Amino acid sequence: MINDNKQRVCPVENAGSLDNSFRKWLQNPENILRPYIQPGMSVMDFGCGPGFFTMKMAQLVGAEGKVYAVDLQEGMLQKLKEKIRSTEIERRMHLHQCQENGIGVTKLFDFILAFYVVHELPNQEAFFHELKSIIKPDGKILIVEPPFHVSRKAFNKCIEKAMKIGFNVEKVTKILFSKAVLMSIV
Ligand SMILES: C[S@@+](CC[C@H](N)C(=O)[O-])C[C@H]1O[C@@H](n2cnc3c(N)ncnc32)[C@H](O)[C@@H]1O
Repeated sequence: MINDNKQRVCPVENAGSLDNSFRKWLQNPENILRPYIQPGMSVMDFGCGPGFFTMKMAQLVGAEGKVYAVDLQEGMLQKLKEKIRSTEIERRMHLHQCQENGIGVTKLFDFILAFYVVHELPNQEAFFHELKSIIKPDGKILIVEPPFHVSRKAFNKCIEKAMKIGFNVEKVTKILFSKAVLMSIV
């Protein structure tokens, strides 16, 4: 049986449209992430793609911090690997290829970013259950979805699933071309 999710997953050939200066102008990673990431933190970029946000996360956590870049597709992680090769941030970044239905990491994180990825997941409930097991008690999760693929109704439904699992919406944040919420554990 062909898995519908295969059609939902952003192809590696589209990586260029995810990492370019025009997007940086519209969705500046520094402005979006700086309020949530401090030096020394352990953070995850879930569904990192070619690393548009991951690179900034690595700068913000500093030399004492750690960034887990997680993606389903080896091709996306390969693009990120090429960007960090022989740079000073290489040592603070861990690249992890996950399974379609599980992140498969047992560490605890201060901050997790899920940018334009939740609508691509085959099982959002399973994802939120797993997030709950890897976020620190005072950790934050930023969920951002694209308005062109995710209706307001679908977004609200997704956030309701997270709330049933034990997340709290701390605030609705404004990010261009996005629907976004910052969540924490109740
Ligand atoms: C639209 S891209 C967004 C990439 C990045 N977050 C950004 O905003 O630039 C979605 C990414 O999620 C990844 N993805 C899709 N399904 C996934 C899953 N089940 N687990 C982890 N990553 C997944 C895709 O491979 C792709 O790199």
